[in-house]
Amino acid sequence: MSTQRAKLVVGNWKMHGRISENAALLTEVAAGASALQKDVRVGVCVPCPYLAQSQALLGGSVVKWGVQDVSAHAGGAYTGEVAAEMAVDFGVTYAIVGHSERRAYHRESPELVGAKTLRALEAGLTPIVCVGETLEERESGATEQVIGTQLDAVLALLSEEQAAGIVVAYEPVWAIGTGKTAQPEQAQAVHAFLRRKLQEKGAAVANALLLYGGSVKPDNARELFAQGDIDGGLIGGASLKSKDFLAICRAAQTALQ
Ligand code: 13P
Repeated sequence: MSTQRAKLVVGNWKMHGRISENAALLTEVAAGASALQKDVRVGVCVPCPYLAQSQALLGGSVVKWGVQDVSAHAGGAYTGEVAAEMAVDFGVTYAIVGHSERRAYHRESPELVGAKTLRALEAGLTPIVCVGETLEERESGATEQVIGTQLDAVLALLSEEQAAGIVVAYEPVWAIGTGKTAQPEQAQAVHAFLRRKLQEKGAAVANALLLYGGSVKPDNARELFAQGDIDGGLIGGASLKSKDFLAICRAAQTALQ
């Protein structure tokens, strides 16, 4: 099934980076990614202060850049927030929305994540909508209910055409930054559930890219990406090292072959 879809590998730098250190990472990723086949797409979501640097160093390369959040508002008196249109000024392609760290530390509700997704789409960005359950929710058998609610709140606000333009990232909270990756079959089962939910929204939506995130590393990426409904990854820690990030991108390429 996944053989018709492209693969996508996106780095989420989170709150890491310094202007002096980013240059080597961005330049190396751009150089390494140029050797990938075109069905493997690559992106990096950087902290907003580094958007200009990303644009300068990645512009003209195959690597797209993005933000890790956007405001639900188009503009106005919202101190500290960044509008999707501002990201567009820096040539941004991707906007992560609803990352579990924002849901947990900034109390973002499923409805707010839906509103942010819509704003990103209206600004011309590709939202990467994160969904995921905590360990407690998994152990109580609530995984599908939790991520179903998270995804439904987003899809409810979108037309079929808009929904076809989103990327969904399944990131089990218990696998983020813990070194505990979901087993490939375990991740695939959730992705198949998400795929069915997308399909219910419309035939075109069923082919939206579904990424897995949570302790993806060079040594586990290949098996994860080989699963039928896993179209790539959202990579945290390993995206900060060009060697590891590029190895994960190459694993996506291998999974396509
Ligand atoms: P790690 O790859 O560091 O576990 O982070 C995953 C993540 O949260 C990506 O958005």
